[in-house]
Amino acid sequence: MDYTVQPAASLHGILQLPADKSISHRAAMFAALHQGRSTITNFSEAADPHSTLDCMRELGVEIEEPGNHTLIVHGVGRDGLQTPSGDLDCGNSGTTMRLLSGIIAGSGVSARLTGDESLSVRTMKRIIEPLRAMGAHIEAREDDFAPLNFRRDAELKPLHFPLPIPSAQLKSCVLLAGLFGDGPTEVIETLPSRDHTERLLNLAIEEKEKKRIIRSSRKDVVPGQSYRVPNDFSAAAFWLVAGAIHPEAEISLPGVGLNPTRTGALGILQQMGADMEITNNDHEGAEPVADIRVKSSPLKPVKITGEVVPNCIDEIPILAIAMLFADGVSRVSGAEELRHKETDRLNALAEMLESAGADFEEYKDGFTIKGDPDFRPDPAAFSSFHDHRIAMAAAVLALMGPDSSTVLNGHCTAISYPGFWEDLSLLTN
Ligand code: S3P
Repeated sequence: MDYTVQPAASLHGILQLPADKSISHRAAMFAALHQGRSTITNFSEAADPHSTLDCMRELGVEIEEPGNHTLIVHGVGRDGLQTPSGDLDCGNSGTTMRLLSGIIAGSGVSARLTGDESLSVRTMKRIIEPLRAMGAHIEAREDDFAPLNFRRDAELKPLHFPLPIPSAQLKSCVLLAGLFGDGPTEVIETLPSRDHTERLLNLAIEEKEKKRIIRSSRKDVVPGQSYRVPNDFSAAAFWLVAGAIHPEAEISLPGVGLNPTRTGALGILQQMGADMEITNNDHEGAEPVADIRVKSSPLKPVKITGEVVPNCIDEIPILAIAMLFADGVSRVSGAEELRHKETDRLNALAEMLESAGADFEEYKDGFTIKGDPDFRPDPAAFSSFHDHRIAMAAAVLALMGPDSSTVLNGHCTAISYPGFWEDLSLLTN
């Protein structure tokens, strides 16, 4: 379905954001691996975490959804997963496929993991290689892509694994497989990526020479996962940028997850001069939360380099929109990983910004944008590339136009933010 976006005269309101997608996936998976019952509140209604729920049910885990965003998971423990009768369909969700691969490889259950068109062309080599080194037998299309067929005939071997790329999905996959091994599996992280897995599983972490060594083994008790999932910082980022770039805006976002390994975009927007206030700092389980309020702000250009990219990887498309309205040239480098998301996001941004008439140059690992506080995007029919974050970035851009624009196949926002279009009209009316 295509969505028409009218230019916004103002943006005002308080939004109840969707629950965090990354934490929702993990809450459901880890609750299944816990021996006993977990009650998770504010579980995400989005499509991706529901792909995870479908897969866990296929593996024999009973999950109740009594309503009001609550989930009751009857955890079966590490040895209770059953061989699925059908495929484990991960839909559009890279997190489901990569994290579940670790669980399947570790448990020794034979299963076939499938995904939609986009997920079936995303590389899985990064997880296949370490899982094979641990003893998993995996067949993949072209030895890289889904469907993935898992079988294990040998004992699970612990792995010492320096992360070759700063990916939380890869880190989590190996640690989850490690949870089933007798000896400790060690993942060595040089650049920090989101640490929800370590936090929610309460894994041992050693800091050594600026590296983090995270260990998992069968000796680790998988804790129950009864807590409230924080609201999604990655969803908040769209409104933080919209509020900062729009000349008549004030937006409040209560209860947002502010895990420091996720909030790179907050620091970047602060550096750009965004007028934001953070109040009511608190915790939901192992995760920090707070309320954020943003107001219209003159923005300065910024440079984002590889060390901070893992900390704002999902927010770069919307940060690019902020850069368009900054007074000068902004640059992003070390972000080649964006080419391996739901779509090639560097290419998608190039096409979006070109149709908007922006001064944008794409590189192999990033881009430069010549910003202008008076920039008005040309009205256009923006392609979403069937990528939720590209669709939402295009919608925020369209709010700033002199006339209406269209976001093609804008319904893909439901992958992480089912209420996105309703929230947009709430702010503009
Ligand atoms: C995620 C990790 C990130 C992110 C994705 C969710 C996670 O991917 O882009 O949306 O929940 O672990 P990588 O860690 O592979 O970069």
